[in-house]
Amino acid sequence: MPGLLLGDEFPNFEADTSIGRIKFHDFLGNSWGILFSHPRDFTPVCTTELARAAKISNEFKKRGVKMIALSIDSVADHNSWSKDVMAVSKNADTDLPFPIIADDKRELSVLMGMLDPDEKDKDGMPLTARCVFVIGPDKKLKLSILYPATTGRNFDELLRVIDSLQLTAQKKVATPVDWKPGDKVMVIPSLSDAEAASLFPNGVTTEEVPSGKKYLRYTHI
Ligand code: BEZ
Repeated sequence: MPGLLLGDEFPNFEADTSIGRIKFHDFLGNSWGILFSHPRDFTPVCTTELARAAKISNEFKKRGVKMIALSIDSVADHNSWSKDVMAVSKNADTDLPFPIIADDKRELSVLMGMLDPDEKDKDGMPLTARCVFVIGPDKKLKLSILYPATTGRNFDELLRVIDSLQLTAQKKVATPVDWKPGDKVMVIPSLSDAEAASLFPNGVTTEEVPSGKKYLRYTHI
């Protein structure tokens, strides 16, 4: 099945969207990007997801991340659905703060491996799964998450992973389980102790483990 792997250049597709026709790389410019797909317009879980995405769109903006959604309906449907979404977001007087791609021919959904084989429309055609792609300023895929249509995503988690991606793109660290911004981070295994000592002025602490191996190295950024 076609799909995208981490590190792949993200396709520079052209598509109709709720803000007109776009070429994806031009849309991104030099920013990070997040593309999240939805099974269908006017569906309950999707509506709650887009309403939440709209509500916290400033958080993505603060991080320099351009948002774009995708669903397999037309621009006219997207424009009408957006009004419902903004009402559910308790911001009925405001436009949806990001565009929605109209993939009504499912071309992008096929190209990017986004179809959910278990969810079909009334004509038996597969619906899009809930994919998330985070794209770096170099246009390469940095993260992908794939949920089935029946499970809504957690947009706080998406902000959290973006914080991790942006931090680990800059510093030679990795973020441990349940990490949040401000928590201690881990020194990556490829750094020697000497390199770590010179790179991390806040110091490096090593947690003892039964093996005696010194691989649990923490620092504060
Ligand atoms: C929803 O967004 O609510 C939904 C869409 C397709 C299948 C199941 C749920």
